[in-house]
Amino acid sequence: MSILKLENISYHYDRSKVEVLDNINMEFNENKIYTIVGKSGAGKTTLLSVLSSLAAPTGGKIYLRDEDISKIDRYKFRSRYVGVIFQNFNLLTHLTALENVILSMDISGKKFDRPKKEIALELLQKVGLDEGEARRRVLKLSGGQQQRVAIARALSYDPDIILADEPTGNLDGETQDEIIGIFRMLANEGKCVIIVTHSPEVAAASDVTYELKKTIA
Ligand SMILES: Nc1ncnc2c1ncn2[C@@H]1O[C@H](COP(=O)(O)OP(=O)(O)O)[C@@H](O)[C@H]1O
Ligand SMILES: [Mg+2]
Repeated sequence: MSILKLENISYHYDRSKVEVLDNINMEFNENKIYTIVGKSGAGKTTLLSVLSSLAAPTGGKIYLRDEDISKIDRYKFRSRYVGVIFQNFNLLTHLTALENVILSMDISGKKFDRPKKEIALELLQKVGLDEGEARRRVLKLSGGQQQRVAIARALSYDPDIILADEPTGNLDGETQDEIIGIFRMLANEGKCVIIVTHSPEVAAASDVTYELKKTIA
């Protein structure tokens, strides 16, 4: 049984009749890195919104293990099962890295068996930020460091699935390799990592690559 399964998924934006996603079938498992590639406008970000339940598909079904996710409370799905790393990070830049992670833990409503601060500092350390960096405001951190904060935040409530939109889009080659290394570590620990990317290097470093074809000329 796969952790996430898309069955004949279609999606069109409100007033549009054009299917941005047209009959998509994909399966995702634990312990693996998946990349979803495709030209600009192919629907990668749209697919990520559907995978994270930010948008409900207009056709087809998504299963989390064997459960139809339209039957799971969407808020719960988003705050427990999937961690999302957005293209522009969506961090609160006036807060510290640590505060961003703790806030996400608070919002999840999940119970933690240790102080949140302790867990958050460990997560930040795990993605390569020391305590000094963890206590710095996000706007004082570099792009690569902000990307690490976004990853730590996505991990904050320990979801099984990690979704990332162009996570290396604005990073230099070396930082990109380090970020890929973090995703590999997470997959080895059992996470299902799904990355939307146009980078051939990231795709080559993943276990499975799905290609999205543009449906709109
Ligand atoms: N909010 C929206 N309303 C209407 N159309 C949209 C919206 N967002 C994206 N689209 C359209 O959906 C298609 C896929 O976009 P997107 O998922 O952002 O592609 P990608 O991430 O692969 O570049 C494009 O044709 C885009 O113009
Ligand atoms: Mg996009």
